[in-house]
Amino acid sequence: MKGVVLAGGLGTRLAPLTRVTNKHLLPVYDKPMIFYPIQALVNAGVRDILIVTGGNSAGDFLKLLANGKDFGLRHLNYAYQEGEGGIAAALDVAEPFAEGERICVVLGDNIIEENFLAAARDFLAQPSGAKILLKEVPDPQRFGVPAFDQAGRIVRIDEKPKQPKSGYAVTGIYMYDPDVFSIIKTLRPSERGELEITDVNNHYLARGDLSYQVLDGWWSDAGTFASLLRTSNLVAQTGANKME
Ligand code: DAU
Repeated sequence: MKGVVLAGGLGTRLAPLTRVTNKHLLPVYDKPMIFYPIQALVNAGVRDILIVTGGNSAGDFLKLLANGKDFGLRHLNYAYQEGEGGIAAALDVAEPFAEGERICVVLGDNIIEENFLAAARDFLAQPSGAKILLKEVPDPQRFGVPAFDQAGRIVRIDEKPKQPKSGYAVTGIYMYDPDVFSIIKTLRPSERGELEITDVNNHYLARGDLSYQVLDGWWSDAGTFASLLRTSNLVAQTGANKME
């Protein structure tokens, strides 16, 4: 399975920190934010990785990450998202890289305490479709939120619902079969003018081909002042991307 880290967008929720630089280059405790999702992929057994970036300071990623030595890699791939059309638009840029293989996508501002190696293995044993990872959170209205039936099956995912149907967030770790790119091409922009990854996941759900697992350890995004500070504190206290 190949890996894709999405690190485009303007990070406007972190302005003025992001006025002249890219959100994913900002520090989370002792490392640039982008280090964490790359390490998460490597820990899940993924070694062929594409960084999709855009917005400010796109060239600085090459200078910072070079060929991936910090992660024990000999090579990294880079692609550029023109504009800020949303997470699914950023993922669309990865189609030539995927070359018909399965992909694991991690959002550039998502940081985890443990690893998702077992979930990645389970996904590879799945004949087709997609897998998402969930985490219970105190503020689900900030995220994609699954609604469950009585048997614990996901029936729908709502993007940033005012009245969340569960206490779970859909984390920014997604595994897809190669159909994801034809699904993206059917999407229409949402009310916030973006191609939404939640619409991609709802597509797989409608086909009955979306599985889920709950992530071990803490999970945090770092895209707001409160979550950036919280994530830095969590990393300082417990460390991130543990393998034990
Ligand atoms: O963190 C998990 C959440 O991420 C999910 O629960 C939501 O369903 C999902 O929509 C997303 O929500 P956000 O509104 O927090 O996403 P945000 O716009 O902050 O983008 C997250 C990352 O995606 C960002 O760090 C880089 C990448 N991205 C985003 C956009 C809009 C791109 O690469 N290009 C883009 O155009």
